[in-house]
Parts: sequence; structure tokens; C-alpha cells
Amino acid sequence: MSHTALATDGLSARQTYRLLTSLVVPRPIAWVSTVGADGARNLAPFSYFQAVCSRPATVMLSLGWRSDGRPKDTLRNILDTGEFSISLVDPPLADAMHRTSEDLPPGTSEWDLAKVRPAPGRTVGAPHVADASAALECRLSHALPMGRGRGGGPSVTVVFGRVTCVLVRSDLVLTDEAGRPVGVDAAGIRPVGRLGGAAYTSTDDRFDLPRTPEEEGGGA
Ligand SMILES: Cc1cc2nc3c(=O)[nH]c(=O)nc-3n(C[C@H](O)[C@H](O)[C@H](O)COP(=O)(O)O)c2cc1C
Repeated sequence: MSHTALATDGLSARQTYRLLTSLVVPRPIAWVSTVGADGARNLAPFSYFQAVCSRPATVMLSLGWRSDGRPKDTLRNILDTGEFSISLVDPPLADAMHRTSEDLPPGTSEWDLAKVRPAPGRTVGAPHVADASAALECRLSHALPMGRGRGGGPSVTVVFGRVTCVLVRSDLVLTDEAGRPVGVDAAGIRPVGRLGGAAYTSTDDRFDLPRTPEEEGGGA
């Protein structure tokens, strides 16, 4: 099999973005809610998102800077307050999630625009999406600026968040005989994934490759 080599030094930022986001797929979608220092509530989707550590429970997001050198509102709010909440997106919420990626004029709320109901946070000030199957409440642990953007700021800031509370729709929590929570019904969460361009995928089509209990324990 022959491969064409595409050295990234010779590619524009746009070409590199298209290449990476077509190849590193599917990406989970963090529907991130924050509250600004002025109290304004913000909601926007981010697919440069991953869980990176279990002890302590940690996730990462990569938040772009705008071409005028300003951080996106989500990043500004996280840096100002140190808190955010990530709601997961299932197929019924996908259209509303997509609407909240619009760049809105100040004073316009993505919550109102997308007609999404907020539910109060438990360990952070930011609300989560009431109809989401699960949400992760996070406190900022590290913020790592990376690259140089067109507006003179960084290209992105990678944010690491310590997960302080996991919220799961109650009917999707698995319990033992004593009623203690032991896991979640992963298939019931139904998160959608982002592919390249305008494409998304569902996670309803699953297959198993079982591992031994010893192998399962290998994650950090
Ligand atoms: C599914 C999806 C995934 C996205 N992922 C990212 C991402 O990982 N990083 C990013 O900077 N922008 C991403 N965006 C674009 C932001 O959602 C968009 O710039 C939004 O307006 C930011 O809002 P804010 O200024 O309120 O933070 C994504 C958009 C969509 C629809």
C-alpha cells in the first residue's frame, strides 16, 4: 500500500484543520456552559475534547482564539471564574447544540436562541443542560496557550479541568443489589460524535472486544 506524505509545514492552518478533523474521528462533543464575570450565561460546543486522567478525574478542551485576538467567550469565562460544566449531546439535542456554535452579538443568550433549559450546577456556578443524559462539572486546573493566532493571541488555549461532579440521568445509572451506583448504561447515554466538515455520527452502532479484568485496570 502506498501513502502520500503531507508535511504539515507546507499546509495552511485551514488545510491542517481539515486534515486533522477528518482523520481524528469521531470526536466527542463537550457542550460547555460557563458564567461570565458579569453573570451572563454562555453555552457553546467544542470537539477538541477528551478525558485525559482518572486520578484525579481530568478532561481537556482546546479553545480557539478569535482572528481579532480575543479569546472565545467560553475561554474568557473559564479563565475568569475557574469553572465550567460539560453537557453531553445525544441525537435529540444535536440541532440545538449546533445552533449554540453561532457567534452571537453581546447580550444574546445561546440558551434562549437554542431553547435549551438550564439546570443548576451542584459543585460549580455554571448550569448544565437539563435534558442532557450526562454532564461533567469541572474546575480549571491548567491553561496552556499554544501556537500563534492571526490576531496576535495564541492559536488555542488548552484547558484542563478537574471533574468535581458527574451528573447522570437517574434511569441510566446501574446499581448493585443494595442500590449502590456501580456504573452507567453507556449505550443509553447515546453521545453523538463529530467527524470532518459538517458530518456527525451516532454511537448507537456498537461492538465489543472483551478484555480481561487485569487489562481493564490499565487506564491512568
Ligand atoms: C460540533 C462543534 C465543535 C466545535 N469544536 C470547537 C473546538 O474544539 N474548539 C473551538 O475553539 N471551537 C470549536 N467550535 C466552534 C465554537 O463552538 C464556536 O466558535 C462558538 O461560537 C464559541 O462560542 P463562545 O465564543 O461563546 O465560546 C465547534 C463548533 C461545533 C459546531
